[in-house]
Amino acid sequence: MKTVVIKCGGSVLEELSEQFFTSLQELMDDGYSPVIVHGGGPAINKMLDLYGIPAQFVDGLRVTCEKTMEVVEMVLSGKTNRQLCSLMKNNGFLSLGINGSDGLCLQAEYIDKQKLGYVGEIRDVNTRLIGMVIENGYIPVITPIGIAEDGSRLNINGDYAAASIAKAMKAGHCAFVTNVDGILIGGKLISELNESEAENHISDGSIHGGMVPKVQSALSAAAAGAGKVMIISGKKPFYKNNSWHGTAIVAAEGELR
Ligand SMILES: Nc1ncnc2c1ncn2[C@@H]1O[C@H](COP(=O)(O)OP(=O)(O)OP(=O)(O)O)[C@@H](O)[C@H]1O
Ligand SMILES: [Mg+2]
Repeated sequence: MKTVVIKCGGSVLEELSEQFFTSLQELMDDGYSPVIVHGGGPAINKMLDLYGIPAQFVDGLRVTCEKTMEVVEMVLSGKTNRQLCSLMKNNGFLSLGINGSDGLCLQAEYIDKQKLGYVGEIRDVNTRLIGMVIENGYIPVITPIGIAEDGSRLNINGDYAAASIAKAMKAGHCAFVTNVDGILIGGKLISELNESEAENHISDGSIHGGMVPKVQSALSAAAAGAGKVMIISGKKPFYKNNSWHGTAIVAAEGELR
């Protein structure tokens, strides 16, 4: 089974274009089965604000107390996932929403309970469950919430979740859909980025904020052997006639996969 893992950023969910879905269809016509993972940063912040819970980040990760975790799950699983599934339906795709804690889909462990609270990293992915959904003709739309051994649900960064799922599924390609055209350096879109260039741009601050975990995740998906790893815009076509638009992330200098 040839899969393509697509992480759909919360930043662009409201703005996904018709061309985005045309590109998705074209990938499917070329024989790829999509697995979608979504984010939802802006919607979570809005709801935390309504509840008067301050949003706090350490190393780009959201510090997640019990109350925050409740809000994260309510928003991601109850709202964002639903919103994306109905967008898929309206554009002619049959999807199935999955909370990552369902059916032990995303098995996770705490990163640092003291420092970050209910924040996890993926230890194992139930590829059999995801495969079963695909084989039955549905596109899985996965909420990045993991299940810990103690049964707690853990908040997982959507970009990291997508990379872990891509590795576990041995995905052919992995795309990170966001609200910009790709990686911009000095205002210009760059077509390709390798590991050492990424490190330099992160340390000089030209890649910052939410783009840092995205680039790190993309690099780890590329190192694991995904064919094309792309950072792309959800507002434009991203795949046409077998070619991709956006920034390609490559595992090592000069290495084309
Ligand atoms: N060099 C860069 N090129 C492009 N965007 C960058 C760069 N450095 C930082 N960014 C920021 O990264 C943002 C995308 O990451 P962000 O985490 O905000 O969105 P997302 O991952 O698509 O959504 P979510 O986190 O809700 O899933 C861009 O909107 C931009 O502001
Ligand atoms: Mg993000």
